[in-house]
Amino acid sequence: MRYVVAGAVLRERGGTTELLLAQRSYPEAVAGLWELPGGKAEDGEDLADALRRELLEELEITVEVGAGLAERVVLRDDLTMLARWARILRGTPHAVEHRGLRWVGPDDLERMARTGELVPADEVWVPELAAVLRDD
Ligand code: CDP
Repeated sequence: MRYVVAGAVLRERGGTTELLLAQRSYPEAVAGLWELPGGKAEDGEDLADALRRELLEELEITVEVGAGLAERVVLRDDLTMLARWARILRGTPHAVEHRGLRWVGPDDLERMARTGELVPADEVWVPELAAVLRDD
């Protein structure tokens, strides 16, 4: 089994918590849709290490990786996706591979889910993400 590990990167802004979303530039089927940034772990690679590597490559940020979100997504027979909470230790996110980046609160996130602006596989995390964005 191989894993895709996505990052639920949070920041505090003016007393509210925001989540980082990244807009895919490929493939055609999901180009323009927004996702939790991340990528495939190498065989045998620790998942937190994989997420740190992917976010450094894709966004030029160094993150601290926390606990996992509850849901896992089966993308294919041999590919499962999971997500971990993360916070930026160093750097400002830049869209190296993505079309764009944005920070969202719970209302934005839920609206984007309703209007089909999120990558479909990531929709499963919206309730947990929105709850944490509201609670923090
Ligand atoms: O660059 P590569 O396509 O190998 O990896 P990726 O873009 O990180 O994504 C691997 C797979 O996970 C693709 O099928 C993506 O669509 C999927 N993915 C996803 O559904 N949601 C994410 N937040 C990240 C990746």
